Amino acid sequence: MSVYLLPTDLTIPADDRSRLERDYARYATDALPSAWEDLVRQEYDLDVASTYAGMPIRNPFGKASGQLSLNIAQVRNDGEAGLGFVILKTVIAQDETGAQMMQDWAIKETKMLVEEITGKSGEKGFTVTWKGRGWYDTFDAYLKFMREALDLGSKHGMLIVPSVKYHLPVTEEFKLSEYKFTTRSLQGVWSEKHPDLPMPLEKDFSPTLAGSDRSKQKETILRWLENVPKLLKHSATKPGAIRVGLKLMNTMFKDTFQGEMLRTVLAGPVKPDFLILFNRMFDPKKEFDGKVGVAFGGPDLSDRNFRSLDAWLKEHDGKPPIEFSATGNICSGRMMVEYALRGATSGQIHTYFQLPSTNYKKADGSKTQKAMHELVFHPQNGLVAAMLHLKETRGVKRFLDILPR
Ligand SMILES: Cc1cc2nc3c(=O)[nH]c(=O)nc-3n(C[C@H](O)[C@H](O)[C@H](O)COP(=O)(O)O)c2cc1C
Repeated sequence: MSVYLLPTDLTIPADDRSRLERDYARYATDALPSAWEDLVRQEYDLDVASTYAGMPIRNPFGKASGQLSLNIAQVRNDGEAGLGFVILKTVIAQDETGAQMMQDWAIKETKMLVEEITGKSGEKGFTVTWKGRGWYDTFDAYLKFMREALDLGSKHGMLIVPSVKYHLPVTEEFKLSEYKFTTRSLQGVWSEKHPDLPMPLEKDFSPTLAGSDRSKQKETILRWLENVPKLLKHSATKPGAIRVGLKLMNTMFKDTFQGEMLRTVLAGPVKPDFLILFNRMFDPKKEFDGKVGVAFGGPDLSDRNFRSLDAWLKEHDGKPPIEFSATGNICSGRMMVEYALRGATSGQIHTYFQLPSTNYKKADGSKTQKAMHELVFHPQNGLVAAMLHLKETRGVKRFLDILPR
């Protein structure tokens, strides 16, 4: 049975369809307008504004944390291409002496391979294979990068969000000094630019973590999920100064454990402000560059995410009980809408921003521009096409109204 909620053939009025075909052809050669949202509003009467962590974003498309958000040139391209938000590469928490309990994640590895992958359903897609992990430069370099990224974010109306891997103990205590020092240092940089706004923050539970010895016991994972939001909120300079988002992993356990994780997060003593659902899967057998066990994405990732989200929604009368940003095989505007129909206010993309250029129609511009052209304007699979279908069949004109109520 298909996991998709949208039909293969979208219902789009003929005049809208020809306008969309015209715009798709036009922006294959012309630069995308920097405020493409205005064009979508004027031409198609659609409003793509949304939220991330309760904060307004221009549109739901964001760059997920990773190898494409670790230098300022990448962030500049994203701003120019009109992304709604960028999550910076995950930095490994440290205390004031520079000690890092999760140091194993701060390794330098740049070699990446973008490969085609076929899901269990037979659907084809892409996955990125590599063996790297978190930020490997100094913490000071990260703070400088974040400062520069925030400047660009203000210039382009693009939300910039730091991401951190904090200490996750197996049996010992959480190292609070790392939580406090890292959070407050990031807050210091954030408040230079936005003194009156809370800082959104992603806490990364990565696929490499899911595949590591640390995650062998379900109880260990549940202990993290129960405690981390409280530790993070207590690490901030004052109550309400940060918005905590947990980026949950796809564990090696059965699908039902994804639901158990969500229930634990929401039953904890302090709830996070939002979630990111769900990071890539881990294949313990796949070998890459001499390393056995790597993360993967593609259709199996989105299939598993949709299954987990559908089961979660069933427990909550069809409406997610907390704001969340989706991640996982968002390779079209249509896929963004599939996640929105399950309650996601935004979508964070990594793989689709790094495909070989032959996969995009647009010849010039950055990879982000090329991808955005497809994500927004593709006549069958773009965001505008999927939203026109929902306008025609349900009268929905605002992206946020796609979400279940
Ligand atoms: C090469 C690579 C590096 C990544 N690094 C990080 C990271 O540092 N922190 C993080 O939270 N997620 C990281 N991710 C996960 C992505 O942020 C994203 O959530 C995931 O790949 C699913 O999105 P996609 O299917 O569009 O790739 C990485 C993914 C890839 C492919």
